[in-house]
Amino acid sequence: MNQETDRNKDIDEKLQGEATIIKSTMKPNGRKLYVESYGCAMNFSDSEVVASIMTKKGYTTTGNIDEADIVLINTCSIRENAEDRVRKRLTNFKNRKKRQPDLIVGILGCMAERLKTKLLEEEKLVDLVAGPDAYRDLPGLIDEVGTGQKAVNVLLSRDETYADISPIRLDKSGITGFVSITRGCDNMCSFCVVPFTRGRERSRDPQTIYNECDELFKNGYREVTLLGQNVDSYRWNMTSKGEIKDDTKPTTNFAQLMGSVAIISPDLRIRFSTSHPKDMSDEVLETIAKHDNICNSIHLPIQSGNTEVLKRMNRGYSREWYLDRIAAIHRIIPGCAITTDIITGFCDETEDEHRDTMTILKEVKWDFAYMYKYSERPKTLAERRFEDNVTEEVKSARLTEIIDLQRNNSAKKNLKQIGKVHKVLIEGPSKRSDIHMSGRNDHNTKVVFPMKNSKKGNYVLVKITDCTTATLLGEIIEIIDPAK
Ligand code: 5AD
Ligand code: SF4
Repeated sequence: MNQETDRNKDIDEKLQGEATIIKSTMKPNGRKLYVESYGCAMNFSDSEVVASIMTKKGYTTTGNIDEADIVLINTCSIRENAEDRVRKRLTNFKNRKKRQPDLIVGILGCMAERLKTKLLEEEKLVDLVAGPDAYRDLPGLIDEVGTGQKAVNVLLSRDETYADISPIRLDKSGITGFVSITRGCDNMCSFCVVPFTRGRERSRDPQTIYNECDELFKNGYREVTLLGQNVDSYRWNMTSKGEIKDDTKPTTNFAQLMGSVAIISPDLRIRFSTSHPKDMSDEVLETIAKHDNICNSIHLPIQSGNTEVLKRMNRGYSREWYLDRIAAIHRIIPGCAITTDIITGFCDETEDEHRDTMTILKEVKWDFAYMYKYSERPKTLAERRFEDNVTEEVKSARLTEIIDLQRNNSAKKNLKQIGKVHKVLIEGPSKRSDIHMSGRNDHNTKVVFPMKNSKKGNYVLVKITDCTTATLLGEIIEIIDPAK
């Protein structure tokens, strides 16, 4: 299984296909909505905003596609294979429409934004198209389907953050939740389609973020993940140069935002994703170190270990800068887990440049890495400036080398945990066994252990007895909070 599927599967396991019965104050309109999400955590979070907008209009959501009147599919464009997967699914839905002609199929997210009217007008795969900033318009677009008007809204906004919308949680665990803090991205990494599909970066009102996290905690949630394409560039009431916009109001940066959420309760764990090496400040690291409930786990994509490749990627840092940030993490948060993303076979990547990625893998020894072959995306800077000239064979060979080395690193790290005790937040029963529970430790590693009399939402101390490359196995030695 490749890394992308791995990551999706992880989120899929949490969220997909869950029958979600929504309590709405609005009288039901008798129509049922099925939402399916692909790609990054932001998409899964957005689908919860969509569920909220729709239930306010009287729709109910269902996890059973067979009873759906409307299917919305929230899509990813990051690599070509992500789009291929969605196209296959849309073809399935097209066949389903032959049996159920009234079924409305809509496409949301990055593919909707990138392809605009194409899937509706040319390929006739969908009835409705809504880009990431157009979800408030969904009920109106649904009404337009079949009226002869084009049910398409792909306008990107400079200020939409859905700040006032309280997402309807589609994750049945009721323990971990995503909270988006920024939308869009201003970085323009040359390989990346996100700035084109999600628009300019904007930060959400910190008070609404605090309120959403507080509400989640009151509803029994024990972990929130603060989401943004680049969480470190979160800023409220400040320009990107750090100037204050309105001096009658307070400003908030990412470190301050995280610090404010951390004091909701020591029993609420805070995670965040994704950090950017060029923007991750010591202040952020010090905030993590200061609060026990901010998890010691940082996802810090490097993309390549070679400075020239990083320049072509327009990442805004060098190999040395990245290593300096790693040193800062070790200095300020000793023992912090660090994970990364790597792209192999980017335009003009030489064997020597690839070797630099191999050596940095040996040097940093990330706990985990998501590794991808470069996939050229239309309209990106790389597509316009460079040639996608590393052959498929070479890309595959380099990816295999990187995966093998990283697997070895991950396995060694896990082996070292045997005999140690980890604090784990239980997310629910293990997928593979009725008598086992599954949760995550501070480092975001999955831990599986016999249930004893623990419940989901409990914090437990688990002694690690065995491991696989991605999972730790153990025994509960203490249930910290049996009362909850
Ligand atoms: N090709 C391959 N991988 C990509 N990513 C982003 N764009 C591309 C692309 N065009 C990877 C990066 C990013 C992760 C979310 O996806 O590693 O960090
Ligand atoms: Fe894409 Fe770079 Fe923005 Fe991440 S930081 S979303 S890789 S442009």
